[in-house]
Amino acid sequence: MGGGIATHELAAAVSEAGGLGTLGIADPRTLRQELGAARRLTGRPIAVNLLLPFARSSHWAVADEADAVVTFWGRPRRRSEGAWLHQCGSVEEALEARAEGADGVIVQGIEAGGHVRGHWPALELLAQARAALGSEFPVLVAGGIATAADVEKALAAGADAAVLGTRFVMSEESGAHDGYKRRLAAASHTHLTELFGSGWPAPHRVVPNAATDRWLGRDERGPSLVRAANRAAAPFLARLPSSVALRLAAAQRSSVPLFGPAPPSRGAPEAMLDAAPLYAGETVARIDDVRPAAEVVAGLAGGH
Ligand SMILES: Cc1cc2nc3c(=O)[nH]c(=O)nc-3n(C[C@H](O)[C@H](O)[C@H](O)COP(=O)(O)O)c2cc1C
Repeated sequence: MGGGIATHELAAAVSEAGGLGTLGIADPRTLRQELGAARRLTGRPIAVNLLLPFARSSHWAVADEADAVVTFWGRPRRRSEGAWLHQCGSVEEALEARAEGADGVIVQGIEAGGHVRGHWPALELLAQARAALGSEFPVLVAGGIATAADVEKALAAGADAAVLGTRFVMSEESGAHDGYKRRLAAASHTHLTELFGSGWPAPHRVVPNAATDRWLGRDERGPSLVRAANRAAAPFLARLPSSVALRLAAAQRSSVPLFGPAPPSRGAPEAMLDAAPLYAGETVARIDDVRPAAEVVAGLAGGH
């Protein structure tokens, strides 16, 4: 999880507890520092996530130093020698990732929080992927998983592992702003929208805030003019240095429909809670507490 959410504290705590902690994308210098800081906290494997529309060669150099790279959103292509997983929204994308040399795929269901690649519920896409990829190829599943029972169900349906985002946003170690965590704890539903698409015009799942209340009508994707403006501005905005993009995000107000993809992280101004995306998946309705990540991982393993 990018945007300052999956920091070294979270990734290290997850890995230390037996999961595969994954650092979210940041500018290459910060990402390298984060990897170093995670290494100081745990001797266990750490992965780095790269969002393909934003990954530059200097990001790949950092990913090469991690134990695995997890890519998302774009044409899968092997760019490093190490272990590589690609998160997919369709069987076609999963087949392409395997053909390009991926060591495994994560199939992401439409229930997922953050940017949503595909259109199918997670377990449906998992069944399709298993049928197409056979029983030997590693297939992990993301979206709609928050409890040990969810993990059991995913494994019984043929997944090799479960991938979770929202449950870990609501961990003590996540870099999410405390107000963001509180909003998620209180939330009971989500919107799959394109409202916060200035710089990255792609569908994403969020909980309601003043911006969504004001701008999402019957079409939860958002006003068509806003979406068209987001698409037109994307090539320019995607090239802004992340420090500039963050300053712009901090200046956003819910009354002006120009919303970028950066979520409110620790230290962000309180106003961002109502003018920035509060990413979360459908499981948010079933999660109402913030817990240490190690406790979350232990709870997910259930009786195993
Ligand atoms: C706050 C947040 C940020 C996310 N950022 C990223 C990201 O930067 N890269 C990525 O591959 N997936 C990202 N995702 C999606 C996750 O990889 C995953 O598909 C999703 O969280 C699974 O669904 P769940 O939220 O229901 O657990 C993000 C999800 C959330 C909730």
